[in-house]
Amino acid sequence: MAVREIITLEHSILHNVAHEVCDFDSNDLELLVRDMIDTMQFNGGLGLAAPQIGVELRIIVFGYECSARYPDADPVPLTVLINPKLKLVTTEQVVASEGCLSLPGARYDVSRYAEIQYSGYNLNGGEIIRSVCGYHARVVQHEYDHLDGVLIGNRVKLPRSLEAI
Ligand code: NI
Repeated sequence: MAVREIITLEHSILHNVAHEVCDFDSNDLELLVRDMIDTMQFNGGLGLAAPQIGVELRIIVFGYECSARYPDADPVPLTVLINPKLKLVTTEQVVASEGCLSLPGARYDVSRYAEIQYSGYNLNGGEIIRSVCGYHARVVQHEYDHLDGVLIGNRVKLPRSLEAI
């Protein structure tokens, strides 16, 4: 088991757009993904993106049976998603509280699409396509944001008092 250090907000890597994975045959890729899963599970996260451990590649892992951090979340199968793409299934959005392992202690109300279709590749290069809703859709949108350098602080709606004068 190799738990890596999770970098926080002040590191520029978390604000960059990560690169696509080109080489699916490398041992390094398998080790990286294993470390990502170990690091996510050790820290009790629902998901983790490679930039959070300082690696600028478009890889996310997510999945849990039950979460102490999000007790209402339905279980999601442990998934490795490389070079993910997201498609909208609905324009309906849902606001819910989110945290992030890269922003220890912070919680933000974040609006996410209620249902999405995601696709990408597993560690063997096999294609994954799923349509999901609920926390599953939320966690994938959260982790996907990390690949584009977007943190939950950038997704927060304006406070009500600032919406109109
Ligand atoms: Ni996060």
